[in-house]
Amino acid sequence: MKILVVNGPNLNLLGHREPDIYGNTTLADLEGSLRTWYPQHEILFYQSNHEGDLVDALQRTDARGIVLNAAAYTHTSVALRDAIAAIDPPVVEVHISNVFAREDFRHHSFISPVCAGVICGFGLDSYRLAVEALLRP
Ligand code: DQA
Repeated sequence: MKILVVNGPNLNLLGHREPDIYGNTTLADLEGSLRTWYPQHEILFYQSNHEGDLVDALQRTDARGIVLNAAAYTHTSVALRDAIAAIDPPVVEVHISNVFAREDFRHHSFISPVCAGVICGFGLDSYRLAVEALLRP
């Protein structure tokens, strides 16, 4: 199965950015781990700090499932919500941190209602759990 893992703004800094919240593992490490764990599947990665680029990535993919950490755009982006609603493959929303245990502005997600499900708070394991959810028969 072809799975696209999309990461939004500031997640390129994973491993260096607020390590007490997001840990010490980099995005490249995560990519390597997911490819190692799922050798029989095609796992594609895309990261951008730009909202429109994320919309384009969702629109153009032929992946069968999408794991999306929209980062701060989760809490602001109607454009991402509309893109998710417009495409066929299921999208699993992920967050590294437990956004509900953080500031109030992180409690609202524009994208949750149009995602297949939400996984948050399990560190980088949130991504593996999202892939597992997409691979369910
Ligand atoms: C995040 C949570 C968001 O609130 C935040 O803006 C991020 C990362 C997470 O993975 O925990 O950038 O999506």
